[in-house]
Amino acid sequence: MRKILVTGAAGQIGSELVPALRQLYGDENVIAAGHRTPMPDDVRESGPAITVDVTDVASVQRAVRDHDVGTVYHMSSLLSALAETNRQRAHAVNIEGLYNVLEAAVDNDVDQVIVPSSIAAFGPDTPPDNTPNETLQRPTTLYGISKVFGELMGNYYVEKLGLDVRGLRLPGIISWKTEPTAGTTDYAVAIFYAAIRDGRYTCYLRPDTRLPMMYMPDCIKAIIDLARADASRLRHHTDFNVGAVSFTPAELAEVIASRLPDFSIDYDVDPLRQGIADSWPNSLDDSAAREEWDWNPSFDLDAMADDMLDNLSRKLAGEGRSDQEE
Ligand code: SER
Repeated sequence: MRKILVTGAAGQIGSELVPALRQLYGDENVIAAGHRTPMPDDVRESGPAITVDVTDVASVQRAVRDHDVGTVYHMSSLLSALAETNRQRAHAVNIEGLYNVLEAAVDNDVDQVIVPSSIAAFGPDTPPDNTPNETLQRPTTLYGISKVFGELMGNYYVEKLGLDVRGLRLPGIISWKTEPTAGTTDYAVAIFYAAIRDGRYTCYLRPDTRLPMMYMPDCIKAIIDLARADASRLRHHTDFNVGAVSFTPAELAEVIASRLPDFSIDYDVDPLRQGIADSWPNSLDDSAAREEWDWNPSFDLDAMADDMLDNLSRKLAGEGRSDQEE
């Protein structure tokens, strides 16, 4: 088979997407492409791993051409908070990087490109509750603007160039394998680390900030299910809302405290990330994804919290042991 290339393979989602794709399609058929962030050992060692700078057109063209790539999962992106503090890099990675991938795909007869969008593609003018798939977007963050660019460019390449581009608007993703630190929704991961390590957490968002979220296994399922969906059923391509759970920091803290009774939370609001969060929806209407490719998440808040605490406790206990051995 033609190879699958995953950019951003060292990132929060990429580092879990690569093993899932390798299990489905065979280790040697899935190429993990990273750049600056070190790749987790299992991603680097379980199959082909290469360095690709998505901002460098020659580097992208080479990767796609030399490895006979048929599918690209383009996961490289600067997340919302980091993008606000580094405009040039955000433009280079999120906008030029995507353009380079789409052009390399057309030049090399790639069959399919998967490009995730985000809840950040919405803005303060968007209806915040049960946000429809089609609505006013007008994001006010650089990250969100780059995601709308990705949705529109993806649809352009579908319609004008016949390239099969697909994408979905991911909410905040919660996971225990690779910790994200550059986004706005990342408190919902950091809180678990802090709860296990310190029994307390200081949250940078207000207690009542409601945001759509999703547990990583559902995120991986969503990406792969969309990629494999029957094209004849799809009326949308690059811009599917996908919902799973929706909660506030106070609600998440309560769920954690019901499992770790000594856990406590306090708040020290970061105006940058609070402003970003306030411009995003509270919850999403994902009926288009449900109708067109049978989207159906498996994890609710309780199931997610149980699984996170279980896996993260084991991971952090393991790290503690290897620290002591060194
Ligand atoms: N998790 C992302 C962020 O917070 C949203 O897509 O930046």
